[in-house]
Amino acid sequence: MSGKIGRNDPCWCGCGKKYKVCHEAFDEKIARFQSEGHIVPSHAIIKKPEEIAGIRESAKINIAVLDYVSEHIHAGMSTEEIDRMVYERTTAMGGIPAPLNYEGFPKSVCTSINDQVCHGIPSEKEILKDGDIINVDVSTILNGYFSDSSRMFLIGDVSEEKKRLVQVTKECVELGLTEVKPWGFLGDMGQAVHDHAFANGYTVVREIGGHGVGLEFHEEPWVSYNSKRGTEMLMVPGMMFTIEPMVNMGKPDIYIDEENDWTVYTEDGLPSAQWEIQVLVTEDGAEVIAY
Ligand code: MF3
Ligand code: CO
Repeated sequence: MSGKIGRNDPCWCGCGKKYKVCHEAFDEKIARFQSEGHIVPSHAIIKKPEEIAGIRESAKINIAVLDYVSEHIHAGMSTEEIDRMVYERTTAMGGIPAPLNYEGFPKSVCTSINDQVCHGIPSEKEILKDGDIINVDVSTILNGYFSDSSRMFLIGDVSEEKKRLVQVTKECVELGLTEVKPWGFLGDMGQAVHDHAFANGYTVVREIGGHGVGLEFHEEPWVSYNSKRGTEMLMVPGMMFTIEPMVNMGKPDIYIDEENDWTVYTEDGLPSAQWEIQVLVTEDGAEVIAY
C-alpha cells in the first residue's frame, strides 16, 4: 500500500471518484491486517471491474475448449490430438493458448496421465488407453487477459481406486472454494484442501502450487495447499487466483523429467490427480471464473 494518495485525489482503481469515497477505507483495513503481521496483496493484483470483464471473456473460451475436449476425448487417441483440438478451438474463438512457447513450453496444453503430476507434454507417441486418468490443463489469452483451468477425464473402464482419487480431488477443490471470502486467508482454503485429501489417505504435492492469474499467466501470490488456517495472504475483493491441488494416491514426493525438463511425476509411481478452478474474491464471497 502506498498510502501516498491524497484523500481528494482520484482513486487508484481508476473509477474516477475521489480516493476518500472509494478505496481509502479498504486500504486502511488492509493496512491494519499488515500491521498485525499478515501478508497482504498489493494494488497490482487487485482486479478492476473492466479487467474482470475481460478475464471473464477469456475464461469463456477456456471453458468452451475444455467442454470440447470432454466431448471428444477417447481411448486410442494420442495426446497430440488433444493438443491439436485445443489449438484449433482456442484460435477459432479468437484466443491464444497461453502455454504455447511459455518459458519454452512446446505445446498448447498440458496433458498429464496417471503418475504424471502436471506439465505433461502432448505427443504423437502417447496414446490414451482404457483405464487411464488424465488431466487436461487449458489456459487462454484473450485481449491480454488470462484464464486457466483444468479437469480430469476417465478413459474407458477406470479402477475404483483411481476413480476415488479423481473424485476426492474434485471435492478438495470445491471445499477449498467454500473458504474463499474477503478478509479471510489463503491458508483457510489451503487447509481445507489438505485436510480433505489427508482424511482420504492421500497427500498433496508441496513444491508446486496455484497462482494469481488474470493480467498475467502466473502472478502473485503463490498458492499452497499445505498451508494452515489464518496464515498466507489476506484475501480481498478483486483478487483472483487458482485452486489447483495435485493430490497423490501415495507419497507427496515428485521428480521432474530430465529429458524434457517439464513433466512432473510421482516418485513412487502411484497416480496423481488435479482439478483447477480460477476464482475471484468478491465483496461477499467468491465467483468461479473458470472451471
Ligand atoms: N496451466 C498450468 C498452471 O495451472 C501452467 C502450465 S505452464 C506450461 O499453472 F507452460 F506448462 F503451460
Ligand atoms: Co494454473
